[in-house]
Amino acid sequence: GVEKFLYFEEVDSTNNVAKKEERSCVLAKRQTAGRGRLGRKWESEEGGLYFSFEFPRKVPAVKAHRVTILTGLVVAKTLEKFNAKIKWPNDILIDGKKVSGILCELVGEELSSRVIVGVGINVKNELPEELKDRATTLKNYNVSITEIFCSFANNFAEVLNLEWSKILEKWRQLLDTIGKEVEVRAGSEVYRGIALDVDDEGALIVKCGDELERVFSGECFYM
Ligand code: BTN
Repeated sequence: GVEKFLYFEEVDSTNNVAKKEERSCVLAKRQTAGRGRLGRKWESEEGGLYFSFEFPRKVPAVKAHRVTILTGLVVAKTLEKFNAKIKWPNDILIDGKKVSGILCELVGEELSSRVIVGVGINVKNELPEELKDRATTLKNYNVSITEIFCSFANNFAEVLNLEWSKILEKWRQLLDTIGKEVEVRAGSEVYRGIALDVDDEGALIVKCGDELERVFSGECFYM
């Protein structure tokens, strides 16, 4: 598990530090180069919760998606009292707007990788104007960064003990995507249709006309 906590007023990305420092949990007040999935930037003004930690077990690369799903469940549970839902694969939404994102990065061997888990939660940070129709914060709720972090840690410890099938079941209950009309972009492929369900590894099953497509990773838009 985690053996040390590091706290920075400012850092490029907590994921970068956690990669270098084995078994660490790294928190920052703000990030100058916060990273999102798919090469995007993650806005990281002061007031948000930004942290990364090394997943307590080594994981074969083919199972790394499970870490992302597990973490998504933990964040969604942490924010459940604010009515948070999960948009496949791992965006956390409140009122249809993104409040949190998760970036898992693998380091090392294919068969036994370290997984760096990065979590960003918009708590009281100001969002840039151009994000306000897609993103939200918790500033209308009376909640602090510390409370959220502690609740995350407690929920993480709980979820880590569950079997995979149980994690998937709980994650699926908080998924907002099933039954929706979606467009899913996976690399150069685009799938449009109805999100029917997820399979037992969390892949999204999309009904496109008469075809069923199974999508393992990518980005999903509600139509
Ligand atoms: C996404 O939804 O695209 C993932 C966003 C992940 C952001 C967090 S903030 C803490 C950690 N450090 C980073 O640079 N990114 C993650």
